Amino acid sequence: MALTVEEVREALRTVEDPELRQSLVDLDMVKDIEVEGDTVRVVIALTVPNCPLQGVISERAKEAILAAGAKKVYVRLTAMTEAERQALAAKLQASKGLVTLTPDRPPGSEKTVYLTVSSGKGGVGKSTVTANLAYALARSGLKVGLIDADIYGFSIPEILGIRRQPTVLEKLIVPLYSFGMSVISMGFFVPHNTPVIWRGPMLGKMLDTFFKEVHWDEDLDVLLFDLPPGTGDIPLDISRRVSWAMDILVTTPHPTATRVAARAGAMTLRLNRSILGIVENMSYVECPDGTRVYPFGEGGGRDLAAHFRTELLAQIPLAGDSPGVEDPVTGETAPGLFPADHPVGKVYASLAEKVMEKLGLEPRPEAVR
Ligand SMILES: Nc1ncnc2c1ncn2[C@@H]1O[C@H](COP(=O)(O)OP(=O)(O)OP(=O)(O)O)[C@@H](O)[C@H]1O
Ligand SMILES: [Mg+2]
Repeated sequence: MALTVEEVREALRTVEDPELRQSLVDLDMVKDIEVEGDTVRVVIALTVPNCPLQGVISERAKEAILAAGAKKVYVRLTAMTEAERQALAAKLQASKGLVTLTPDRPPGSEKTVYLTVSSGKGGVGKSTVTANLAYALARSGLKVGLIDADIYGFSIPEILGIRRQPTVLEKLIVPLYSFGMSVISMGFFVPHNTPVIWRGPMLGKMLDTFFKEVHWDEDLDVLLFDLPPGTGDIPLDISRRVSWAMDILVTTPHPTATRVAARAGAMTLRLNRSILGIVENMSYVECPDGTRVYPFGEGGGRDLAAHFRTELLAQIPLAGDSPGVEDPVTGETAPGLFPADHPVGKVYASLAEKVMEKLGLEPRPEAVR
């Protein structure tokens, strides 16, 4: 017996837009359904033409309609009109519990834990640590957001292998969904590898955009900020805007690096923010016989933790290239993420566990992967 239009619509109700993570039907993306015997034709309007995940959307829609009993399914993809995009923006804002970062929010008024990741100097692995910690937290069942706040030196898109652009509807920017995390980066908005040369006012505007126009799910458990290195204007500005955030300070084991890291820690404390702990990166190399060598010396992380009366949360080994991780939804490969079963991935898993324990965060049973 042929399906009814309503049955096809119900089948499509189970299909979510991978970025907006709501049903195609609820998002008003299903524009037309035609049933002729056991052949079904549907028209789905995407938020932008040539949306990079259009293949995923059309495949999911087709599978759902076939599973409902159709024999042949044709999915035609179109793009929403400007009016439809505006209507969708209004609907999303009203329905989904999307929130923006409010710079003047009093601490403790929402349940999301804010964590900044900072370092005294560049190149100590801050972005690598932030991305892998975020991924490990998401793997252990938290709802995670990740902000690449390194406006000029963004590297999160590269670490995660992201080539898409976020959905922008009017003044509503939806972070990309990648490896089970919501991610935003300046790098999503500049053409490939163009240097960012904005100064003062433009830069302030960009930060305002991050804070006022990027919309996050309101029930995020953790929102991590990969800060620019050092104690310059930009890390200071962001630090001020999220004065309630706790900080993780990344250093290498070398005493010089540690002294520089201490300056970043001092800035955090001067802003009355607290330090959750220290991560020592590039700590050691593990030899095949299990012994460890310490190419950059020893003790930096421990000393820094003692200096700030905080905890050394992890020592991450000096690693070769990661084999990469593939995102099951987008098919993108993240060259900078370490898989859960990789020795370095395991170190990040225990770092995530420690962070969760210190913050009293419990995994969501439905989300554990
Ligand atoms: N544990 C590690 N072992 C080996 N290489 C690492 C390790 N951590 C980071 N790296 C590499 O070091 C380089 C710098 O790392 P990353 O970009 O994460 O540092 P950063 O502190 O964020 O730098 P920046 O100051 O430029 O933002 C990258 O090439 C990264 O792959
Ligand atoms: Mg970085």
